[in-house]
Amino acid sequence: MVLLTWIIHISAQMASALACAFSNDWFLVLNSFEILDFCFKGTPGVTGAVMWDSGVVLGKFLEHAVDSGMLVLQGKKIVELGSGCGLVGCIATLLGSEVIVTDLPDRLRLLRKNIETNMKHVSLRGSVTATELTWGEDPDPELIDPKPDFVIGSDVVYSEGAVVDLLETLMQLSGPNTTIFLAGELRNDAILEYFLEAAMDNFTIGRVEQTLWHPDYCSNRVVIYVLVKK
Ligand SMILES: C[S@@+](CC[C@H](N)C(=O)[O-])C[C@H]1O[C@@H](n2cnc3c(N)ncnc32)[C@H](O)[C@@H]1O
Repeated sequence: MVLLTWIIHISAQMASALACAFSNDWFLVLNSFEILDFCFKGTPGVTGAVMWDSGVVLGKFLEHAVDSGMLVLQGKKIVELGSGCGLVGCIATLLGSEVIVTDLPDRLRLLRKNIETNMKHVSLRGSVTATELTWGEDPDPELIDPKPDFVIGSDVVYSEGAVVDLLETLMQLSGPNTTIFLAGELRNDAILEYFLEAAMDNFTIGRVEQTLWHPDYCSNRVVIYVLVKK
């Protein structure tokens, strides 16, 4: 039943992949990751209360990158921006990272509840906490001291009005050893282009080829960018 709740809110292609392709760890996560009723019944489609495709892709990319030795996340500090329901941050936790998931103040209740509900059922290799972070505002010291090894975000570039603030936050969080992974949904090329153009002033940007993604979780409607501060 919980699995169905997830599937309703992702694309059909992704849903069939989810239904058949999860490894043991993921099966555990999906079986126990409970989305609270109120967020879907009250305001379906509201950003932050729905799991977006790019989040599933990013989470599976991280898992695949760790499994294939491309990436080491064990013991790494990760800050997730605009965490929404919290799935990607929870996956990073299961992969051994010390994760801080963040979102707007009024999204934290759901985020914390999801973490509490789901992470208590699995043996954690890492840790996860949730804290408020509104882009463009000063981050809590715990977010920047020390600077995270990774900053991650899925479907956080969707509003032109938020691009400047988002970039300011990415600058504040990034140190010389910080790598940023952003998964975006190709629903509005103009906003992504605007973001990339503005980001190029301060970041070196690359695109993670689909050949490096989890083979069962690829979508032509999703892109994964990697950014490092210049
Ligand atoms: C489209 S949702 C993506 C949620 C989640 N990452 C996912 O993939 O399912 C965008 C997220 O960004 C958050 N967000 C939007 N504007 C924000 C801002 N100015 N500061 C912080 N978070 C923001 C929203 O609350 C929401 O959780």
